[in-house]
Amino acid sequence: MQVGINKSNMSTIISPSLLSANFLNLSKDIKIVNRSEADWLHIDVMDGVFVPNISYGMPIISQIKSVSTKPLDVHLMIVQPERFIETFHKIGADILTVHIEGAINLHSTLQRIKSLGMKAGVALTPHSPINMLDDILQDIDVVLIMGVDPGFGGQSFIPHTIEKVKKLKDMILRKQVATLIEVDGGVNFETGKQLVEAGTDILVTGSFFFNSPDPITTIHKLKSL
Ligand code: DX5
Ligand code: ZN
Repeated sequence: MQVGINKSNMSTIISPSLLSANFLNLSKDIKIVNRSEADWLHIDVMDGVFVPNISYGMPIISQIKSVSTKPLDVHLMIVQPERFIETFHKIGADILTVHIEGAINLHSTLQRIKSLGMKAGVALTPHSPINMLDDILQDIDVVLIMGVDPGFGGQSFIPHTIEKVKKLKDMILRKQVATLIEVDGGVNFETGKQLVEAGTDILVTGSFFFNSPDPITTIHKLKSL
């Protein structure tokens, strides 16, 4: 699948996270996302080592792929993610994001992801400073800034995230690169609006989307913040 990654000037890219879906009825929830104006489907992979939680793995993701009409935005919260690049490509990842804190030889990892036709993402946990990206930004399609400590949905947004987005936006403009900014964790209408004003291109929404009374309208509103 060719992923449209260029954000139009009109609307924010929205990537609903399946972590807050009903796991006993995943296809129903994926079809809600299919019917919505969401752009991507966010898949959180956890190994119980990089984060204190375990989510789902390859067999479930390949079945998700068979139902989803949206590109899969796969967020790897695992140690040594370079071990699984080919596997995630095979099961249908369109955007593959690794954490800077868990990756060794990040440059080669990003090149391998891109050589397979996927978009390459790098995620930063709340305590990792933006300047860690200074010598690698030109190789990254998407920087994912965590708005909460990774591992669980439904946590409160860390307000300092807004400053990190502004710093990253400045770095992107200064270096004249096309990298997009994605924020994951604690996104709702209020934090989403502040994030978009600070320069965020992509909003991940988990519990806010799945707990909302009308998820399809929620996506519509998030897109036009
Ligand atoms: C957390 C995950 C997020 C999570 C976001 O580790 O990376 O994608 O699902 O959930 P909310 O939107 O509820 O904070
Ligand atoms: Zn995520």
